[in-house]
Amino acid sequence: MILVAGATGNVGGELLRQLRADGVAVRALTRDAARAGLPAGVEVVEGDFAVPRSLAGAFAGVAAAFIVVSGHEAAVLAQAAGAGVRRVVLLSSMAVQTRPESLIGVMHRDAERAVAESGLEWTLLRPGQFASNTRSWRTQIAAGDVVRTPFARVGLPAIHPGDIAAVARAALVEDEHVGASYSLTGPESITPVEQVAAIGRAIGRELRHQEITAGQAEAQMLAHMPAGIVAASLEFLGSPTAQETQVLPTVETVTGKPARTFAQWADDNAGAFR
Ligand SMILES: NC(=O)c1ccc[n+]([C@@H]2O[C@H](COP(=O)([O-])OP(=O)(O)OC[C@H]3O[C@@H](n4cnc5c(N)ncnc54)[C@H](OP(=O)(O)O)[C@@H]3O)[C@@H](O)[C@H]2O)c1
Repeated sequence: MILVAGATGNVGGELLRQLRADGVAVRALTRDAARAGLPAGVEVVEGDFAVPRSLAGAFAGVAAAFIVVSGHEAAVLAQAAGAGVRRVVLLSSMAVQTRPESLIGVMHRDAERAVAESGLEWTLLRPGQFASNTRSWRTQIAAGDVVRTPFARVGLPAIHPGDIAAVARAALVEDEHVGASYSLTGPESITPVEQVAAIGRAIGRELRHQEITAGQAEAQMLAHMPAGIVAASLEFLGSPTAQETQVLPTVETVTGKPARTFAQWADDNAGAFR
């Protein structure tokens, strides 16, 4: 049995689909089963990483677990080890290497340390920017044809969450990835201007990009994100390091399939913008 945390999220949701398609026995973890909207036939268990004692049922009979960062890794992993879990795959972040002093870097580094000290077999996944972050444009696209973002022409190799999930799937079921830390990117750099155009093509509309200042974006983001995360995100989006803009071959090396483009992600998720 494999436990998939974040099963209602971008990566965990894709991982759940891929493991089920393989015929692997999976259990989906969510904090609220009633709101999760998981597919019929999926074994769903409620649990919250912030309340480690809520996880006893989640880990029972599980051989390998996919986990997301919560800030409670040491206690979560102690529960997992106590229940007999052998292997854990952590969804971390490239920021551990590229921005170790930022809040995002520190959170993910602490989680990685707890995993490495857990005594379990482990694999760390360190993706850069997700293609799915553009889901935050849905309200703008529903309201009109203009999408406003900062850093119009800064390109980053955004990754399809399905490709992160494919690497996670390999790490959960194959032995050769134990002890590996995988930095993950998409196959090409793409700017916000190009992302808006790609979503427009996917949904059959002529969308336009309009640049706003970093200050305007900051004010909007602070409404729903902690200040430290906003600061780190804007720094990353506006002034990526050479390492953050580099296209890496890891997805194809691990899965045997090329990483999918942003245009493919937009086609796969067109329904979210209609
Ligand atoms: N977005 C990026 O560009 C990016 C880049 C690098 C790394 N990452 C990493 O990827 C992670 C996930 O990103 P995402 O876009 O896939 O997120 P997402 O779609 O918002 O999903 C987050 C998932 O985490 C689960 N979750 C949150 N808190 C939990 C808790 N206390 N206990 C159990 N489950 C909990 C949620 O499950 P329920 O709500 O169903 O409980 C949800 O399924 C980020 O948090 C970050 O660590 C993201």
